[in-house]
Amino acid sequence: MGNINIELVPMTRELCHGLFREWENDPDIYSDMSLFKPFIYTEEYADKYFDSKQKPNRKMMVIMLEDKPIGEIQLKQIDYDKKECTLSIHMQNDSYKGKGYGTTAEKLAVEYAFSELGMTAVNADTIIKNKRSQHILEKMGFKFLKEEDGFRFFRIEKE
Ligand SMILES: CC(C)(COP(=O)(O)OP(=O)(O)OC[C@H]1O[C@@H](n2cnc3c(N)ncnc32)[C@H](O)[C@@H]1OP(=O)(O)O)[C@@H](O)C(=O)NCCC(=O)NCCS
Repeated sequence: MGNINIELVPMTRELCHGLFREWENDPDIYSDMSLFKPFIYTEEYADKYFDSKQKPNRKMMVIMLEDKPIGEIQLKQIDYDKKECTLSIHMQNDSYKGKGYGTTAEKLAVEYAFSELGMTAVNADTIIKNKRSQHILEKMGFKFLKEEDGFRFFRIEKE
């Protein structure tokens, strides 16, 4: 993973459009596949998405490979009193999956949560069938907590 040259930058409206222009929905995040539809980009969708995520308890970041947005990673439900938040990630499309970018981005986001946001724990959840995501979380040192309502819950504590 040492040579993976990605960085996380704050999401901007322009990057949000860039991300969604080449976006593909991934079946791994749909427990009910009857809800799965191929993604179709519209300017309106990207604007609405960007606006809806501007919240003080959320950091939206873009995974950048040189000057190209290749995925989105968020720290959400940031609780500055409890010092914990929840991680979420989605790469732009299949051409950026399976190359180590997701693992590296998740490590960077957790590091950021601990060192910049002052968190002491980061939570994550995945639907049961999303084995790829569960594998990465466990590889990074997240501990499996429980399975409930179709989700598997994980957590990593600052050392
Ligand atoms: C999950 C996601 C962010 C991971 O990013 P990525 O760049 O594809 O992942 P990486 O290449 O860093 O690592 C993939 C790992 O999963 C493993 N893997 C792949 N398919 C797997 C499967 N079906 N079961 C178990 N492990 C699997 C790979 O072997 C690799 O592990 P390794 O490095 O130990 O060999 C990306 O695939 C994605 O955007 N998926 C769709 C959205 C999503 O699932 N988001 C998470 C919601 S909880």
